[in-house]
Amino acid sequence: MRKQILACVLAAFGFGWGASAASGQETVKIGLIVPLTGGQASTGKQLDNAVKLYMRQHGDAVAGKKIEVIVRDDGAIPDNTKRIAQELIVNDKVQIIAGFGITPAALAAAPLATQAKIPQIVMLAGASIVTERSPYIVRTSFTLAQSAVIIGDWAPKNGIRKVATLTSDYAPGNDALQFFKARFTAAGGEIVEEVKVPLMNPDFAPFLQRMKDARPDAMFVFVPGGQGGNFMKQYSERGLDKSGIRIIGPGDVMDDDLLNDMGDAALGTVTAHMYSAAHPSPMNEQFVAGYRKAFNSRPGFVAVGGYDGIHLVYEALKKTGGKTDGDLLVAAMKGMAWESPRGPISIDPETRDVVQNIYIRKVERVNGELYNVEFETFKDVKDAGKSQK
Ligand code: PHB
Repeated sequence: MRKQILACVLAAFGFGWGASAASGQETVKIGLIVPLTGGQASTGKQLDNAVKLYMRQHGDAVAGKKIEVIVRDDGAIPDNTKRIAQELIVNDKVQIIAGFGITPAALAAAPLATQAKIPQIVMLAGASIVTERSPYIVRTSFTLAQSAVIIGDWAPKNGIRKVATLTSDYAPGNDALQFFKARFTAAGGEIVEEVKVPLMNPDFAPFLQRMKDARPDAMFVFVPGGQGGNFMKQYSERGLDKSGIRIIGPGDVMDDDLLNDMGDAALGTVTAHMYSAAHPSPMNEQFVAGYRKAFNSRPGFVAVGGYDGIHLVYEALKKTGGKTDGDLLVAAMKGMAWESPRGPISIDPETRDVVQNIYIRKVERVNGELYNVEFETFKDVKDAGKSQK
């Protein structure tokens, strides 16, 4: 009787002797905040799929703890991200927040991670500044600076002298532009036109006309993952594919997830990026096959950021022996190195950003499908946005 009363009292105060406690296994809760509606929905889907795939392959328990992922849709609207992060931390008592499909969403949640002292795993957002906004942020995606400097060096060496730029008008687009421009112009390249397009629901047509008139050798393009299909549709509708203006840029515009639907207009496009579905490694072959089997679609770079993000959480929990203290988890993540479907990667202990190979790739048709075929590798690239300081 006294035990029953005690149980009631504890339950009333929210101590909740739930099923997991009864089975002797505590739960680690992860709040996964991703865009599942709106213009960035395809990227949120990739992140969610990748986390699900990893957990199916590795089980939902690690270091004696059961892993529970609570998925919430922020529609890529930062106010939503902030509200959802707050709810997850305060009401659901998550010990980790993860996801973050765009930079403004990652920035909106950063003060909450700092306040709650819990890890914030950034699986997609790519502006350099992101990891500087909270000591609890660890990133498993990339920065735009990482790929923009590589393509900025490559272009002038490959006969590209005049470039028109088209970039999404927000932090990662501005990073891509700044780092590309610095390297390209230092090697004698000329920027003949610079156009910025809105992040949300961009209509590329008027900008594409200006691009055509500027007659550059190539067009440097950054749009976030998810928008490349629409961009390429408008690019071919305006006849730019026939006008001899090549596309170069970070690989976001050629996301493997959407590439097959872009058709021949995409053929020959050269971009720099950290992942290709065609990356030739046994691990990647297994990853692509597993993803295809589970979701009937091809994973892109977004999915890999999610897959590695949840891997990082699993490995950190192993290192802390299942302890979920935020400082311990972040300390465990710093310097961690592993093989990803993209190749070898590690977490820079200084910046908590990802160090990885950047590959130059060209779109080719292989066995009837379009792929970004890697042809040059730059090893262990750090974020130029930080190493510059
Ligand atoms: C971002 O908002 O930081 C972002 C999103 C998607 C990308 C790259 C950057 O492909």
